[in-house]
Parts: sequence; C-alpha cells; structure tokens
Amino acid sequence: MLLIIRLKSLFSFLDIIAFARSRDEPLLSTSWIIQTHKSKTELGTKATEVTVEGKTYSTDEWMNTPSTILTAISRRLHLQQDHPLAITRKLIESRFPGYNTHNDLFPVVTVEQNFDSLGFPADHIGRSRTDTYYLNQDTVLRTHTSAHQADTFRANESAGYLISADVYRRDAVDRSHYPVFHQMEGARIWDRGALDAGKSLAQTVWEDVANIPKHDIEVEDPNPTTHAERNPLQDGHSAEDVEAMAAHLKRSLEDVVVAIFSTARSASAATTGGDTAAAPADEPLKVRWVEAYFPFTSPSWELEVFWQGDWLEVLGCGIVRQSILNNAGVSNKVGWAFGLGLERIAMLLYSIPDIRLFWSTDSRFLSQFSAAGPLQRFVPFSKYPACFKDVSFWLHSSSAITGAGGRGRNAQATSHDFHENDIMEIARDVCGDLVEDVRLVDEFVHPKTGRRSFCYRTNYRSLERTLTNDETNELHERFRQQLVEKLGVELR
Ligand code: PHE
Repeated sequence: MLLIIRLKSLFSFLDIIAFARSRDEPLLSTSWIIQTHKSKTELGTKATEVTVEGKTYSTDEWMNTPSTILTAISRRLHLQQDHPLAITRKLIESRFPGYNTHNDLFPVVTVEQNFDSLGFPADHIGRSRTDTYYLNQDTVLRTHTSAHQADTFRANESAGYLISADVYRRDAVDRSHYPVFHQMEGARIWDRGALDAGKSLAQTVWEDVANIPKHDIEVEDPNPTTHAERNPLQDGHSAEDVEAMAAHLKRSLEDVVVAIFSTARSASAATTGGDTAAAPADEPLKVRWVEAYFPFTSPSWELEVFWQGDWLEVLGCGIVRQSILNNAGVSNKVGWAFGLGLERIAMLLYSIPDIRLFWSTDSRFLSQFSAAGPLQRFVPFSKYPACFKDVSFWLHSSSAITGAGGRGRNAQATSHDFHENDIMEIARDVCGDLVEDVRLVDEFVHPKTGRRSFCYRTNYRSLERTLTNDETNELHERFRQQLVEKLGVELR
C-alpha cells in the first residue's frame, strides 16, 4: 500500500514511521516510497516529494533513501555537549587555533556539490546508487564533508576552516561501518596576492610551519613530495611552494595525531574494572605518510598510525586542485585540505568496540562521557548474546552483479541487478540497530545452469539487552522476505 501523505515537518515524518511500524508493515517497502502528494489542482499532475527538516525535494526514480536514514539527520551527535563525537571534534579543533568552524551545514546537497565541483569523473563508483543515497537525480545526502569545499572557498571568510558534519554512505553492516557517520574536513589556504613585500609564497608558508607545535614521534615518509606518475605536481604549481605547503599540512596533521593518541594513552580506565584488553599497547607512537589519490587533491596522502599492532589509516589529504579554487572565484589562492572520520578516532580514543553505540540513547553509554575532566575509556556495560542466522538464495538468472565495480550514474540497472550493499540496506531497514554484522559466508555457481547462489550470515545482537528467540526469528523471517520482495531472489 502506498503511503501518500504530505510531510509537513520532521514530526509528521517520525509519526509516519511509527505508523508504518505499528501496522507491522515492512518498513522498507513504505520507506522507499514515502511520498507526498500535491493535489491535482495545485500542480496539474501528481508530484512526489520528501521534506527534510522543512525543506522539500521532489523525488524521482533515483530516490533510494529510506526513512530510517532521514531520521538520523536530526540527531546531530557531533553537537551534543558530552557525546564522544563532540568531545573528539573539540579535541581536534583545539589543535587548529584561528580556523573558522562550520558545524551545522545542511546534509542535503547537489550532485554538483558532492561530486562535480570536486572533479569526480562521470563514471566514478562513488556516484552509483548502490553507494550513495539519492533523493533525486541531482540531489544526494552528502557522502563526505568535501561537498562543502567549493562553497567554503567561494565564501572566502578565513585562511583556515574546519567543517564537521554527518555524512551518509550505503555500506557494509559490521562493527565499524554505519550508513551515517561523521567527518571533519579542514583546509588552509594562502593568498598569492597578499604576500608581505619581498616574501615568496614558499617563504611565507615555511614561516607558518615554524609556528606549528613540535613533536618527537617517529614519522616514516619515504616518498618524494611529488611523483610525476603516482602523485603529480599540478600545472601552475611550483615544486618549492608545494614542498612548503606539504610540510605545513603534514606537521599540522601530525600534531593532531599526537594530541589524539597521547590523550588515548593517558585515558584512564574507569574504576569499575576497566577492559584492559583494549588498553593501548606500550610501543612508542609511530606514524607514516603513504601516497593516495583523491580527485580533488594532488599530490595526495593518507596518514596511518601504528596502533595496537596494526597500521591504521586515519585521514586523507592533499594539495587542493587549483581548478576548485579557480572555479570558486579565488584563483589567487593555493592550499591544502584534509578529511577524517570522527567515529574511527573516537572509537580508539575511548576504546568503543561497536560503531552502533554512538547512536545509543542508553544512559549506561551516554553517562560515561563528559566534556569536562580527563578522558576516560569506555567500559562496556555488558555483552549480550549473539545470534547467528544464515540465509541462502539463488540470484535471478538475469541478474548482473554490480559489486565493487558498481554501476555508473548513467548505466541502466534492471530490477534484478544485485549489489551487496542492497542486502546490507535491507538488513538495516528490517533490523535497525539489532543487527551487528552481515557477511557473505558462501558463494556457489551451479555447474549446469550457471545460476549463482549466495549465503549470508547475520549476527543479531542488541547492545542494550538480550534478544528473545521469537524476536530474532521474526527479524530473520522479515529479512528473508524482503530479500525476495526487493531483490527478486529465490530462497533456498
Ligand atoms: N573527502 C575524502 C574522503 O571522504 C577525504 C579528503 C578530504 C581527502 C579532503 C582529501 C582532502 O575520503
């Protein structure tokens, strides 16, 4: 049954979700088609639209954003005073004195802002509907804070800025992925037209480098700053300017990492018997720079930190593509940008074991964090039992598999195309935060028919209570039925 209701505010939106749930209708089937309807006299023809925090967007066949995702928009976890994401944000902001901060930019952006303005090629996998939440062909939930780069450069308010925000991506279901997460983007630019008399850009930048606090951690940085094939200097940029800006970028971000990881190390376990297994190891802090690629920076790098025995990627960064600055009307400027995931950093700062916890409203979680006083590691309140269930199915024989290769923005997908993220989305929509992990455990091609079969294992586990057998059975049954209804698979 179609739910055709005019959405006036988020409240009515929430009511609709409650309504769908209370009617025991599968949320997914309604959430993808929640639509509003202007009367014929108003428009002459039926229009479908969705209202997000008072702003109305018309939807089309690109719409793939479930209501469960839209409701997350109002949470603004990174702005909640004592929330671990807000505390993490402030810790990082404190390392960038004088930078402007933008922490409440609206999450609905244009495809132009999120991709085109940043030089994403037309067939970039990030644009596909399997990876990105669309409201319509031209409108998405931002997939990264870089969506605001061009506008922030155009506004030209300060030499440095930081943007923290919720970002949205269709992705795996496991303890470190959630379809809504938070990023911080930072940038620092210099104005070639406003240099002190007699001073070059490189000299000016090196003087700024000298003002960044020094550290004594070990840094591996084996590659040259630029490399003709792997990490090229941009046309119109001089090697010495980029050398200086790269040094400013790297020292600034090393300073952030030192601040975060020394805080994490000194974080005391709360008195009620801390989880010492998660305690930071004692080896000296080590970081390394690795070459990277982003469509909107060149050269580009990732910063990795050696943490508890593994190299952990913490951020991406690089020298801003000059075309972005030029198109933003500030062609005199040059500079760097970085982006990092706040959850990942907060998880290691506090030893938080599951990304779903950030969304918890359980006081046993929230009461453990305070913006005042020294940082204390999170103490899991309890681990409730896991419940594993498998589902096996045959794909429709005409299905194309659009996994990591993904389908492009313009590719025609049939209703039977299969992408793993669709399975993930169905699991999330049916189970909400009661699903911890969904993974492929078996794949099989029938030797005669060539049909493909998959087996996915779902781990049902609440962070807050023990699930009953009836509950997990019912969740699993709904998950199975939705796979059939949404993906046209045949259960085995
Ligand atoms: N937006 C990039 C991401 O989400 C991170 C990034 C930001 C990289 C700015 C370079 C410069 O992965």
